[in-house]
Amino acid sequence: MMPDDATRTALIAAARAARETAYAPYSHFTVGAALLFGDGSVVTGCNVENASYGLSLCAETVASATATAAGGHAGQRGGLVAVAVAGGPEGVDGEPITPCGRCRQVLYEQAALGGTDPLVLSAGGDGVVVEERLSFLLPRAFGPAYLG
Ligand code: THU
Repeated sequence: MMPDDATRTALIAAARAARETAYAPYSHFTVGAALLFGDGSVVTGCNVENASYGLSLCAETVASATATAAGGHAGQRGGLVAVAVAGGPEGVDGEPITPCGRCRQVLYEQAALGGTDPLVLSAGGDGVVVEERLSFLLPRAFGPAYLG
């Protein structure tokens, strides 16, 4: 499924809004993510850091876990259609960023449950948006199918 322009714009706005709630006192790099599902639901997340730095959670992972916990996973929401990500140094519309490796794997699991290859929209300042399929960002992914 391919979201139209208005849907993409709204999803990026949701990611930017989620970024406002980021808890990033250590890196001062705030990130917001928004997931769009086939049933029209949108679930957002922000990065949540920790004084034990390595325990910090990325925005995409928080959004994915929130979706599952608060209403159901992609298989129950009509599939994961698109993911928007916006981030950068606090208060700055940064360069478009793509999900980190761990988040790609987390998103892959979420997407696999609904059988889609979601579009990943990386939104930067000045309206720059880079669009890539998750399968491009994480080729030959390991997923639930391998476990039977
Ligand atoms: N971060 C995310 O939330 N998502 C990404 O895609 C990249 C990195 C967070 C982790 C950490 O809190 C901060 O950004 C700096 O790495």
